[in-house]
Amino acid sequence: MSLYAEYIKEHDDADIIEWKNGYLTYKQIDVNTVYLMDIYVKPKARGKDLGKKLLDEGARRAKELGCNQVLGSVIPSANNSNLSMKFCLDWGYKLSVCEKDKIWLIKEI
Ligand SMILES: CC(C)(COP(=O)(O)OP(=O)(O)OC[C@H]1O[C@@H](n2cnc3c(N)ncnc32)[C@H](O)[C@@H]1OP(=O)(O)O)[C@@H](O)C(=O)NCCC(=O)NCCS
Repeated sequence: MSLYAEYIKEHDDADIIEWKNGYLTYKQIDVNTVYLMDIYVKPKARGKDLGKKLLDEGARRAKELGCNQVLGSVIPSANNSNLSMKFCLDWGYKLSVCEKDKIWLIKEI
């Protein structure tokens, strides 16, 4: 287990999918729902579907946990948030709730 994996387990009770060029953190938040928290793909590996595959794997794990939906979020003021939002919508997330500086997305799985 990486140090970061240890940290998010202790700090947020969250888990992580760690691949060579990217990771996705996630956490079950209720009986039906897993929150896919942070996703990161190394710049050199972007645009080759790795991000989509990480979300697919997160959804697969959510199903394994007995959940039927996943949540995601985009912070509008973050760098390149327009690209992040496009990536999320392309994956099939739908708009759930807009807060002041957080857009919540939801997808049935
Ligand atoms: C968002 C991110 C995870 C996408 O990963 P990825 O492996 O490039 O994603 P995929 O190859 O599966 O999908 C590519 C799509 O992501 C979007 N995208 C977002 N940022 C991108 C980038 N820097 N380069 C290329 N595509 C990017 C584009 O819409 C692209 O769609 P297109 O091919 O139709 O143009 C990645 O760019 C990243 O780690 N960004 C920095 C961290 C971040 O913003 N995380 C998301 C917070 S919600």
